[in-house]
Amino acid sequence: MYSEKHNDSSSNPLLIEAARNLVARRRQAEAADAVMLARRVGISPDAWQAGVLRSTERQVALLCSRQAGKSTVTSLLALHEALHRPGALVLLLSPSLRQSQELFLKVKQAYAALSGEQIHAREESALRMHFSNDARIVALPGGKEATIRGFSGVDLLVIDEASRVSDELYQAVRPMLAVSGGRIVLLSTPFGKRGFFFHEWTEGGRDWHRTRITADDCPRISKSWLDAERATIGDFWFRQEYLCEFVESIDSVFLFADIERALDAEVQPLF
Ligand SMILES: Nc1ncnc2c1ncn2[C@@H]1O[C@H](COP(=O)(O)OP(=O)(O)OP(=O)(O)O)[C@@H](O)[C@H]1O
Ligand SMILES: [Mg+2]
Repeated sequence: MYSEKHNDSSSNPLLIEAARNLVARRRQAEAADAVMLARRVGISPDAWQAGVLRSTERQVALLCSRQAGKSTVTSLLALHEALHRPGALVLLLSPSLRQSQELFLKVKQAYAALSGEQIHAREESALRMHFSNDARIVALPGGKEATIRGFSGVDLLVIDEASRVSDELYQAVRPMLAVSGGRIVLLSTPFGKRGFFFHEWTEGGRDWHRTRITADDCPRISKSWLDAERATIGDFWFRQEYLCEFVESIDSVFLFADIERALDAEVQPLF
């Protein structure tokens, strides 16, 4: 019969060394491929999500349907940056504090789902996480330019629901990336033909990695559900929220029609 001592692999230095090497190799591989982190969290990314996780572009724009999975993939990107870049500063920005917190909650849930993670959360609150490798993830209140201006040396700046964030805020945060050479990720559904998100998407040039995902491209949204939704919310909202079209806002469509009518001498008065 074996004694406990002989049976105990935890005291075998060769096995310990081999296990350490394996962990180190896995960490190295995960540092180079964020898809591995997604899988460790228990998420099997869609092909486009994998593309985003593996992109090395400095500027990323995601034009996606509601519920396509844009916040999920971006939260993984944020977590990857924090776990694999010691001292990294990751900022999460949205039109409102509630939305920033919502995205931050996804980061926290992903972190909580990791098993055997070596980087510990030193400090954790509803708005920020500070890790043992000195990396930080901070959720920012949208709309308050003054609170946001203090940050510099940002490695990853995420702007969720970007089409609804003001141009002033965008202009205030972009310089935070200047010195660090950090990355920016914009994710949004469209919201009319205006604002920086529309501008970067349509005229921002080649410096952007752009991904457009309609509801039809999402395997978790069924055609029958979409048909029912279209009937409920109407064509205008459906095209915007699910087909990712930069349709004119209802107000501006009416305004434009009014102006056209006023300018068109051929139009007969209604009364
Ligand atoms: N690869 C995936 N595998 C399984 N579930 C996923 C995947 N990606 C996202 N999801 C799930 O799909 C749902 C929507 O994801 P998420 O909130 O990221 O979408 P969104 O595009 O940000 O939506 P919204 O426009 O409403 O903000 C969530 O329940 C999320 O957990
Ligand atoms: Mg979202």
